[in-house]
Amino acid sequence: MLHSNLSVNEKGHLTLCHADTVALAKKYGTPLYLLDETRVREKCRTYNRAMKQYFSETARPLYASKALSFKGIYRLAKEEHMAVDVVSPGELYIALAAGMPPEDIYFHGNAKTVADIRYAMDAGIGYFVADNMVELDRISAYAKEKQMTQKVLLRITPGIDPHTFDAVNTGKVDSKFGSAIATGQAEEIFRYASSLDHIQLCGFHCHIGSQIFDEKPFCDAADLMLTFMVSLRDKYGYVAETLNLGGGIGVRYTEQDPYIDIEDTLRLVGTHLHKICDETGYPMPQILMEPGRSLVADAGVTLYEVQNVKTITGYKSYAAIDGGMTDNPRYALYQSKYTALLANRANEEADFSCTVAGRCCESGDLIGENMLLPKPAVGDILAILVTGAYNYAMASNYNCLTKLPIVMIADGIDTLAVRRETYADMTACQL
Ligand code: LLP
Repeated sequence: MLHSNLSVNEKGHLTLCHADTVALAKKYGTPLYLLDETRVREKCRTYNRAMKQYFSETARPLYASKALSFKGIYRLAKEEHMAVDVVSPGELYIALAAGMPPEDIYFHGNAKTVADIRYAMDAGIGYFVADNMVELDRISAYAKEKQMTQKVLLRITPGIDPHTFDAVNTGKVDSKFGSAIATGQAEEIFRYASSLDHIQLCGFHCHIGSQIFDEKPFCDAADLMLTFMVSLRDKYGYVAETLNLGGGIGVRYTEQDPYIDIEDTLRLVGTHLHKICDETGYPMPQILMEPGRSLVADAGVTLYEVQNVKTITGYKSYAAIDGGMTDNPRYALYQSKYTALLANRANEEADFSCTVAGRCCESGDLIGENMLLPKPAVGDILAILVTGAYNYAMASNYNCLTKLPIVMIADGIDTLAVRRETYADMTACQL
């Protein structure tokens, strides 16, 4: 199986975290998201332990909650001693509602409004990761009004291309995020932030991209960021407390994807950081990282029921399901590849190639093409693996389809964490 939390039981049914997925489809209905809570906790512990071991005792992982945002996951993050990154007042609202301590929240985003900033500061959030000078002005002005000092990290673009897909390639000089070192604008925003009252500049942030499968781009980013920080120390005497290296560790969606070991990657990046600090005499900053996908993706499975199977003679076959781009838009958006299997016939040979089509009125509403399955039949339970990240988070109500529930599984025990949206929920704002 693609990941060690997946297996097949004596009935030939797919299991996730020891729970029979076919039984869960029957109990909760389809389409349905499952999330292996045990797996997410294990990953949080790996990040926490390895970052402290290989970076320093002050190092800390922040859960990049854009990957999957609902109350239960913030509660879990808090229990696992994670801080969190939020990118919108909506994510902030859910994190606070779930009891996440505000001082452990880092607020991201390249276009924060005055209202966002006020809301976050009134809630007492720990840090802004400030993108631009307008944002700094807004934070400083409100901090002055509140007679307080707000902690800030500056988002810097190191100028790295980690060769991932364009939609998630964020560290290049011409990125919409942050200020580039290469153009001199990073130094400019540093000087500006340092000149503002009511702002405490704690350090710098970079995020180079997502779905990265080796340590080199992270080491390169660390090099560029530390070289920049050393230059500021030498020129202005400023020594940063914190360096946030962002998220991006990749996840296997299919057997063809490479594998990257989280602990090993952190060890190699840590060794590299210590080496640069030793060479430059820069005190090891507090290192933060922001894993999203690598914490939750392989904990997720989505279950659908096959509605019909259509073979277009001489062309191809479709298996149509009761969900689609509304619960997983990643193939439609990025042609992201997934692994599919029939949960109720998980031992049977997968020798039938078909396109898995969603139910929306849109030809591009596909979950995958040329997917290999046992020949599906109406009523089969189709499982798409590795859907924990950027699925529920990116779900929509297109075609007025309602959003799916999330069932969390801990050591084989299932608990409903998000209930299925009703038509009344969906129309609640319509007057
Ligand atoms: N930190 C920052 C500032 C980010 O922008 C992101 C992701 C992360 C951390 C987490 O990265 P991760 O560890 O998940 O790779 N919708 C796309 C992914 C967009 C990622 C945006 N930023 C997808 O479905 O692949």
